Amino acid sequence: MPLAVDLSDRIAWVTGGASGIGRVTADQLSAAGARVITLDVKPAPDSSAHRSYALDVRDSAAVEALVKELEQQHLGPDILVNAAGITRDGVVWKLGDAEWDDVIDVNLSGAFRMVRATAPGMRTRGRGGSIVNVASINGIRGKFGQSNYAASKGGLIAFTRAIATELARDRIRANAVAPGFTETPMTAALPPEVLDRARREILLGRLARPDDIASAIVFLASDLAAFITGQVLVVDGGQIA
Ligand SMILES: NC(=O)c1ccc[n+]([C@@H]2O[C@H](COP(=O)([O-])OP(=O)(O)OC[C@H]3O[C@@H](n4cnc5c(N)ncnc54)[C@H](O)[C@@H]3O)[C@@H](O)[C@H]2O)c1
Repeated sequence: MPLAVDLSDRIAWVTGGASGIGRVTADQLSAAGARVITLDVKPAPDSSAHRSYALDVRDSAAVEALVKELEQQHLGPDILVNAAGITRDGVVWKLGDAEWDDVIDVNLSGAFRMVRATAPGMRTRGRGGSIVNVASINGIRGKFGQSNYAASKGGLIAFTRAIATELARDRIRANAVAPGFTETPMTAALPPEVLDRARREILLGRLARPDDIASAIVFLASDLAAFITGQVLVVDGGQIA
């Protein structure tokens, strides 16, 4: 087994690929040789590293239609990274239905819709595959003000473990990455004291950068992780150690 990551015969799809962790993951997958397609509700322009499509993962019909269109062009995924995600923070007694539903709809049901739509093609093509769902340490430990987000990410971890059992017979692996606090547009707007508190929690003494998380995703997507499925890889610099 060669130790270098070589994805030159793979097609990789990344939801949420226009920004933050998803964007850097798309770049790293492309650098490893994959043909990369990013899917985002606010798509980035095409680049030399990837083709971009507009897709709202809340919309089942749109997900099904785009999967069909791309599969007809022989661009069905070998690697699927579900990185689309949102936060709508608030303590539970002030959380409205919309804040609860939106977060579950994007973070959990969005990944479900992508897997449901792509799994039949992955199984039929018979090339195996790798699904990596981007969860969060807050889906493991819970977090003040994030009951909706923590529930979505905890659910995503359970979903990942369940689909790993269903897809293993087709050599399709499913794993989750659970990032700690990462410097992206999602966290940029938070008050400095929240960032300081996170920094104090992290054994390695700094916030994660998107490339820290992307490398773990690329590892799980690659053949270096050929015997790893149904796992959650915590990438947090020791934040919840
Ligand atoms: N930043 C962190 O500290 C952190 C920590 C743990 C987990 N995560 C997770 O990592 C993932 C990426 O987050 P990020 O920090 O890079 O955030 P980000 O806001 O930079 O990127 C999220 C992307 O998802 C897209 N998106 C949102 N709703 C969508 C929808 N309905 N359909 C398609 N795309 C949609 C956005 O347009 C954006 O491009 C998320 O799932 C997030 O929950 C982030």
